[in-house]
Amino acid sequence: MLQETISTDQPVGRWQDYVVPQCWEAFTDDDHAVWDLLFARQIELLGSRVVSPFLDGIDLLKLSHPGVPDVEGLNAILTPRTGWTTVAVPGLVPDEIFFAMLGERVFPVGNFIRRREQLDYLEAPDCFHDMFGHIPMLAHHDYAEMAEHIGRLGVAAIAAGEGHRAARLYWHSVEFGLAREAGELKILGAGLASSFGESHLSLESDAVERLPFSVERAVNTPYKHDAFQPRYLVSESLERTIAEVLALTPEELLNL
Ligand SMILES: [Fe+2]
Repeated sequence: MLQETISTDQPVGRWQDYVVPQCWEAFTDDDHAVWDLLFARQIELLGSRVVSPFLDGIDLLKLSHPGVPDVEGLNAILTPRTGWTTVAVPGLVPDEIFFAMLGERVFPVGNFIRRREQLDYLEAPDCFHDMFGHIPMLAHHDYAEMAEHIGRLGVAAIAAGEGHRAARLYWHSVEFGLAREAGELKILGAGLASSFGESHLSLESDAVERLPFSVERAVNTPYKHDAFQPRYLVSESLERTIAEVLALTPEELLNL
């Protein structure tokens, strides 16, 4: 029943209406320099503290190429590989639109980058967060499938008036999840991988809680959207998270 709501002709609008040209030519030399600064700083900071498919994705997608990536160049590699496409948007999109995009393997990336004076402060996710944080994992086949599934779960949950359930699942995995890899604690979420301040805090601080990940715990654990997280969910492995999420049906999500 819930699946019937995933129709592109709903009166709430279509995700396509939120897409804008990236206008890559409009990025200034300073914008490109800010990308290069953020990229170099974050790669050095992360080292091997992030799940290995993330670093594989950085290489595959040639994200170390200097300057803000253009979406067409990214899509030329990403789309043939996993069927995902990046599109430019001018800022945050409504949750319903965001989940609808994910459900069709479309990922929105901001068409702007933070200013040099705001390297660590963001009012809205910019293209560094979106492209550096999220896109590398979308080159991983199983993760790509999980991200689409979360989109479909999100559309269904919102239609049932329970959007917060899908938002929490998304938040504690895709944005702020941690995962073990060969026994070591690693960053999984894009919000951590792209954050100078929070990446180490999430792994090393004694002042935060780290609890085992399960879809049930994720769905029932609130999060902060305007501050560092007080707790992180730690998956036994990336593969385990993917398997658990893919096994979740919209009906089950509403009853966890
Ligand atoms: Fe994000």
